Amino acid sequence: MPDPTGQPDVTTWRQLLAETTRVLGDRQHARWMCEVASGVDSGDELLAELDAPATQRMVAHLDAMIARRLAGEPLQYVLGTWQFRRLDLMVDQRVLIPRPETEWVCETALGLARTVWSTTAPTPVTAVDLGTGSGAIGLSLAAELPVGSVQVWLADVSADALDVARANLAGVGGAGAAVQIAEGSWFDALPASLRGEIDLVVANPPYIADGDPDVTAEVANWEPHLALFAGADGLRDIGTIVSEAAEWLRPGGWLVIEIGADQGPAVRSLLDATGFDAVEIRPDLAGRDRIAIGSRPA
Ligand SMILES: C[S@@+](CC[C@H](N)C(=O)[O-])C[C@H]1O[C@@H](n2cnc3c(N)ncnc32)[C@H](O)[C@@H]1O
Repeated sequence: MPDPTGQPDVTTWRQLLAETTRVLGDRQHARWMCEVASGVDSGDELLAELDAPATQRMVAHLDAMIARRLAGEPLQYVLGTWQFRRLDLMVDQRVLIPRPETEWVCETALGLARTVWSTTAPTPVTAVDLGTGSGAIGLSLAAELPVGSVQVWLADVSADALDVARANLAGVGGAGAAVQIAEGSWFDALPASLRGEIDLVVANPPYIADGDPDVTAEVANWEPHLALFAGADGLRDIGTIVSEAAEWLRPGGWLVIEIGADQGPAVRSLLDATGFDAVEIRPDLAGRDRIAIGSRPA
């Protein structure tokens, strides 16, 4: 209905941002939602557009996002994308939301890949991201290492997760030419020709103990349980990966695994008992055990 005062009936982004902030109680979250709903590329662009009118379609999109968030859905799924290192990754309920601590696992893998490349060049490093989910780790390796220096396999047992990884692979441009996708359980996903030939295996497997009371409702209710839980002690999948990696890595190849904060001693023992060299447990930024490293004896 036309406005009786003769003023056009418009809602500006300034009004929507204020209202969304009030409803969510968080201005940063409100800004991100307004950015997505308005289709701008950055927060700065949104600020420049604050007095522009929003279309009905944009307002409906924003309302739908607010309703999902208020129903308890994680912000990252509501936004549909989340940043991991240099990548803007598509994320939804088919995959784990990439975590900041995993960026450090990736940093460790990048460092080892560069070291390997310094000895193998011009032959590219063969790297495998096991349990790739959104593709966060493996796609970062492909995007951040020099073109031609790495061949990356993204593997997961979840076909749904691999659909998300495939969409994210399409988003990394030319770096994606060095990436292949494989479906199956841990190393079973890979072609037999890679057995004993892999330079670097990096994995962020499920490592939470079944029924762990510290898992928040938001995580337990929304993120895939296949990505989270790994038996009574949380070590089921780490144990499988460590024992199989000993066969799939080339002599001198590296294994990097994200672990739970209380799993350092147990994973060190597993790596030692399997015969890995140069075993190390490194902390995350909060000082908690987070990254296990080992090298297959040369
Ligand atoms: C903790 S999530 C990690 C996702 C992603 N790498 C990241 O860091 O954000 C664990 C991933 O392992 C996958 N996974 C679980 N069991 C698996 C198995 N038996 N073989 C291969 N992947 C598996 C899950 O589907 C999930 O994508």
